[in-house]
Amino acid sequence: MAAEEKLAPGRRLLIGIATIVLGAAGFAAGRTLLRPAAAVRQPVAFNHRIHVKEVELECSTCHEYYEISQHSGLPGLDICMACHEEAMTESPEEQRLLELAASGQPAAFRKLFRMPDHVYYSHREHVTLAGIECETCHGDIADTTAPPPVTLVNITMDTCLDCHAERGVKTDCTHCHR
Ligand code: HEC
Ligand code: HEC
Ligand code: HEC
Ligand code: HEC
Ligand code: HEC
Repeated sequence: MAAEEKLAPGRRLLIGIATIVLGAAGFAAGRTLLRPAAAVRQPVAFNHRIHVKEVELECSTCHEYYEISQHSGLPGLDICMACHEEAMTESPEEQRLLELAASGQPAAFRKLFRMPDHVYYSHREHVTLAGIECETCHGDIADTTAPPPVTLVNITMDTCLDCHAERGVKTDCTHCHR
């Protein structure tokens, strides 16, 4: 029996309409977790491996909010410049970082992938309350030397639903679609 058949007719109609609207919204937004932006240009090609494996920084140094809020957040240049006041390497990327900071122009890192706006997901619930590791959803991002062109873990609706079913978390549509 399809999940929709269990719903009252009013609910079913609402979801039918929502599905059409959501489909159109997804198309207009042009990118979801499944369909990442063709090319997100970052101000600097950030190297996770050096900072996590060699410098041994915690994820929270740069992604400050995953324990307390919906989004993890991406760092501003001010966080980088706490260490990179002067060049430490011969890297042309580090040179770019220093020039950007000196120019004073606002340079922000952008999200590579995002959820459609109609899906509610919160890091706080999953990281702090459920104790799920970053790797479960983001793979070995800590071992990458530049932003990956595609998500390391392909998160679809089924990824969310499978784990929720396994762990006895609610799976009704409105739990995630708000
Ligand atoms: C806690 C200090 C610290 C912070 C914060 C930090 N870095 Fe670094 N970073 C380092 C160190 C140390 C190295 C040099 C490692 C080595 O000697 O190879 C480095 C190396 C680099 C390099 C050159 C290596 C490469 O692969 O290109 C770049 C570029 C860089 N960092 C960018 C950034 C950016 C962008 C940020 C902010 C998002 C940042 N760093 C934040 C300490 C830091
Ligand atoms: C020194 C700063 C720094 C540290 C430490 C750091 N990150 Fe990042 N992270 C960044 C920057 C800058 C970006 C944006 C550029 C990119 O995508 O590579 C990023 C991007 C990401 C993304 C991609 C998000 C998206 O846009 O889809 C994930 C996932 C991520 N980091 C996870 C982690 C995890 C897990 C850790 C700890 C193991 C970690 N990061 C440690 C700076 C950092
Ligand atoms: C249960 C899956 C899951 C876990 C566990 C998880 N994430 Fe995420 N993460 C996501 C999803 C889904 C998005 C996209 C969210 C959006 O677009 O609203 C995301 C987005 C991000 C981003 C992009 C910026 C933002 O805030 O949207 C960063 C950085 C990130 N995660 C870091 C982390 C770190 C660090 C950890 C571990 C402490 C972690 N994530 C654990 C699923 C997860
Ligand atoms: C690896 C397992 C796992 C994955 C993957 C996962 N979840 Fe969850 N989720 C949980 C658990 C466990 C909880 C209950 C957390 C708690 O409150 O203790 C939860 C709770 C939630 C909640 C309830 C938050 C609230 O306000 O009550 C929402 C919404 C949610 N998840 C959405 C998602 C979405 C959307 C995805 C996919 C992008 C996803 N989840 C992927 C395990 C998972
Ligand atoms: C545990 C969280 C969760 C639950 C429960 C859930 N969904 Fe989803 N749903 C998602 C996520 C995440 C996506 C986005 C997947 C992507 O972008 O690839 C999605 C995408 C969709 C889309 C596609 C929209 C688009 O932008 O293309 C529709 C339609 C949809 N869901 C309907 C439903 C219906 C109907 C139910 C109830 C039977 C339901 N969902 C239950 C997480 C959930």
